[in-house]
Amino acid sequence: EYAAVETSRPSQRARLDYSASLAYPSTSQTITKQTPFQQPTQILSFSFTPSRTLEFTDSALRYFVEPPIGAKLSYGYDRWVRKPDGRGRIDGLLQAFSKAKGMPNVALQDVGVVAWRGVMTRILTSPYEDREGWELNVMSINGTLYFEEHLSEARLKEKNDMEPRHRQQTYYGYAFESYCTSETPKRTISPNASDPLGWGGDVDTNVQWCSVVRTKLGNTRLLIGGEVDCVRGNYTHQTDTFVELKTSLVIRGPPDEARFEKKLLKFYFQSFLLGVPEILVGFRTPSGIVTTTQSFKTIQIPRMVRGKPGAWDPLICLDWGNSFLTFLKDVVRREGSQDASVWRVKFAPQEGVSIDMLDPSGVEDVRGSEDRVGFLPTWYWDEIHA
Ligand code: A3P
Ligand code: MG
Ligand code: MG
Repeated sequence: EYAAVETSRPSQRARLDYSASLAYPSTSQTITKQTPFQQPTQILSFSFTPSRTLEFTDSALRYFVEPPIGAKLSYGYDRWVRKPDGRGRIDGLLQAFSKAKGMPNVALQDVGVVAWRGVMTRILTSPYEDREGWELNVMSINGTLYFEEHLSEARLKEKNDMEPRHRQQTYYGYAFESYCTSETPKRTISPNASDPLGWGGDVDTNVQWCSVVRTKLGNTRLLIGGEVDCVRGNYTHQTDTFVELKTSLVIRGPPDEARFEKKLLKFYFQSFLLGVPEILVGFRTPSGIVTTTQSFKTIQIPRMVRGKPGAWDPLICLDWGNSFLTFLKDVVRREGSQDASVWRVKFAPQEGVSIDMLDPSGVEDVRGSEDRVGFLPTWYWDEIHA
């Protein structure tokens, strides 16, 4: 087993009422019985090419290289090739799941949940989320739940019409990835003489390398896919050399430190869920100059923040995640959903979770103009109903 924190600690379990709503979890409870989380195992990996085609290769895999100190993250902004913003469809992950089901020696019976890592991170970090709610579309077929993030029209628009300043800051994160990665284990010198030292090539956010892992939360088996920024040293076909890259503002005092510790909750679960053992943070100035880097061991992060102003406890999150999945399975089973039914699950801070079955017009909105049943692509639907 893969312990969420290195040492166990005593506590008391949250009570749960099975109804179509689930209360906002208390973060002051103490957990007596840890919800086990199994060490993730990689099933397969895939790449998105510059034309956003999914291929089962490691063409988008990158190796970690030390970024130069003083790196300018504003470099190359005008040449950024942006992945079109849109709904976070589950299609790529289903392609991988479908391929994995045909692989010998990969036990994929009784997968209880299929979801992108970002969705699972949002769910698990909810106990400490006091500002932003989220919505999911959920389908249940043969005992497997499929999760898709639901973005309202307003949220989609927000994403597309990002303020220039905000967009620039988002770019800093990608530019940092360029400075920190190389197509080979050693830094390749840029052929472009005008590039700054250590620049790894212009940013194209269409290109992504993804890992699909199998793991288990409580007694629910999960199939999770997510982007992995790079590997350190060599690629072992497992998760042990994976590195997550992050940027963050330089810490200048206690309030900054508390903010950073709060942010570490998201960094932690994002990496923990895929079994990524290392998070490398580049601290930057407001104008995007990297001043220092610091490497964190993912599993040590909970102990680092314990007792601090921005403290959080991952056991609360795992317990909540387990309660959430149990609640969902229970409602869906009790309400006797049809395969094509789509559920809308909403989380609101301070309130909790509500779940409703969408009526036909809602399902139509989810499907859009595409070839889908609910939000599942028709090819996948046909495959599992064959
Ligand atoms: P930083 O995290 O360094 O800011 P990831 O860290 O998950 O690999 O994502 C790479 C970059 O994508 C992030 O770099 C950030 O710039 C951008 N990004 C990821 N999630 C985002 C979100 N929810 N909103 C805005 N930008 C995001
Ligand atoms: Mg990434
Ligand atoms: Mg990253």
